[in-house]
Amino acid sequence: MASSLEQRTSKARIDTMQRHVLVCVDDDCGGGKVAKALRRSIAAHGLRSTVSVAKVDCLGICRKGTIAVVYPEGTWYAGLAAKNVDRLVSEHLLHGRVVEEMVFHRNPLGASCLTDRAVRTG
Ligand code: FES
Repeated sequence: MASSLEQRTSKARIDTMQRHVLVCVDDDCGGGKVAKALRRSIAAHGLRSTVSVAKVDCLGICRKGTIAVVYPEGTWYAGLAAKNVDRLVSEHLLHGRVVEEMVFHRNPLGASCLTDRAVRTG
């Protein structure tokens, strides 16, 4: 019998997830509608099993919201709105082409980061 964590892991589609989008829904960003539109667009593009959206409190930027970050690439977007998330989904999440004019920073968190850190502290 599967444990409750295994059941939740399956329900959250963690084993098939390829990208995770964190969307700020704190007061200055007000990304609640963006997160809802993202989820709707992700489903419409057939990406529900591979892209997960998490609503998070402040990501520390608090300017030009709504702010979101896409992992594993570490691509930071500003100015997201319900009306422009389809472009993010169809270009970045579906075809892997970053929407450059909405990007303000990049910081990929890959295995090399962990290796570098281990070397520095080891
Ligand atoms: S309120 Fe959205 S990044 Fe701070």
